Amino acid sequence: MIKTTIPLNITAEDHSLQTRAPDPCGIIIFGASGDLTHRKLMPALYDLYHDKLLPENFFIVGSARTRWNDEAFRDRVLAILKHIDKPNFMLHKKFVQHIYYRRAEYSDSKTLKSLKALIKELDIKHKAQENIIFYFATSSDVYSDLIPKLAKAGMISKTKPGKPWIHAVFEKPFGHDLQSARQLNKIILKVLDETQVYRIDHYLGKETVQNILMFRFANTIFEPLWNHHYIDHVQITASETLGVEHRAGYYDKAGVLRDMFQNHMFQLLTLVAMESPVKFEAREYHDQKIKIAKDIQIIPTNKLHEFVAFGQYGKGRINGRKVVEYRKEQGVPAHSRTATFAALKVNIDNPRWKGAPFYLRSGKRLNHPMTEIAIHFKNVPKSIFTHLNIDQFKPNVLSLRIQPNEGIYLSFEAKFPGPKLSIASLNLGFNYKDAFKTTPMGPYERLLLDCIRGDQMLFVREDMVEVSWKFISSILKQREKLLPRFFPNYTSGSWGPENANKIIQQDGRLWQDF
Ligand code: BG6
Repeated sequence: MIKTTIPLNITAEDHSLQTRAPDPCGIIIFGASGDLTHRKLMPALYDLYHDKLLPENFFIVGSARTRWNDEAFRDRVLAILKHIDKPNFMLHKKFVQHIYYRRAEYSDSKTLKSLKALIKELDIKHKAQENIIFYFATSSDVYSDLIPKLAKAGMISKTKPGKPWIHAVFEKPFGHDLQSARQLNKIILKVLDETQVYRIDHYLGKETVQNILMFRFANTIFEPLWNHHYIDHVQITASETLGVEHRAGYYDKAGVLRDMFQNHMFQLLTLVAMESPVKFEAREYHDQKIKIAKDIQIIPTNKLHEFVAFGQYGKGRINGRKVVEYRKEQGVPAHSRTATFAALKVNIDNPRWKGAPFYLRSGKRLNHPMTEIAIHFKNVPKSIFTHLNIDQFKPNVLSLRIQPNEGIYLSFEAKFPGPKLSIASLNLGFNYKDAFKTTPMGPYERLLLDCIRGDQMLFVREDMVEVSWKFISSILKQREKLLPRFFPNYTSGSWGPENANKIIQQDGRLWQDF
């Protein structure tokens, strides 16, 4: 039984950002007719409203090319909120009174002018004190054009610390390769200061991901073991049962490396591998993350196949239901060569990790949905139990379960009861739901709140986005050489393609079984 002490001791002084009441503000969402706005942003904003975490004075303007008016947009939001847990229709209605819609042709300065006028009017009406968040829920091609236009229209500009403030949130993928990411940073930082820029990676908003550092650095017992002397290797798995859904237009161009590895997987890797910041403060934390990110070795071009494996899903069954192959999904070209699965071996060139590789795999239409970081410790050097061979001892594995069944588990060996000496593997662990009896805040909720409060800790800094693209772009450049001759090469509902096994088996290791 785990005894919890809640709440944790956080001093208001150290965490003034977390405790301070959020400033009044307007939130402008570009790409408001898209999937992200409806599936993630609106429910998250409503949850914040429900939990009284939004400022009292706020307004939201959705903007897109779709011909809607305020009523149509509000109706859509209401329709979405209907499906959330324990709907409160009265509150939904109050919430949508803060919501407006303005159609905008992003390339047309006239419509931007009218948006500007609307923002001004709403700012006065809702007493938002001219604080503004621009949320770019569009592809980066769209916002790279839009940003200079907004600057020209006088809607965004560099602001000095203090009030009123302008914050800009950028969705991932931030660019589509190193060059485009650099170009985007250039465009953005010409008109905004880095302190105003919030590059989002929703994995960083997950409670379990934030806990990685607390777990590592608030306990004395793990850190001394957190290196290649004790750790044999690390596996990071992000598997989904979902297919491409209705996002073929985006996904077929992006593929799994851009969709999952450049951002979510890379971030998980850096959090597990980084050194301790001197203190838990945004700049220190980002400095340490960038240090480790730079130590990640670019995959050697002469050994690509030892480090990278790609896959694309074929037909199969997910939860007993027949599903079609990727190439037959709506909107996917019949001969698409886009990878929906990848496995990578990553080496980190520093004294802590030399010789302890990280194996990463992620894909769609896999056996079950699950994200986990598994730290595989080394085997005991010698068996003192003479009748037991060394290979009968299972090495300890520390599993940081990001989702679902969020928790942490440590496997260890024990004596099986009885007069005959035999060994059994057990698990020591906790799960968040039982231990804390609370539902964690959703990642978008958390990140939106941080953005309103001006806390950049859980966002991706300019240099980090470039280093992660440098790593991924080096693989993307070799993509043609790496893609298997025949796609699809794994059955939906399996654990991925055969070639992914080679990546780990060549080192005498196996993928974790789930
Ligand atoms: C998104 C990707 O960033 O993350 C999706 O674009 C993916 O393709 C999703 O399904 C996974 O997020 P989560 O939070 O469901 O693990």
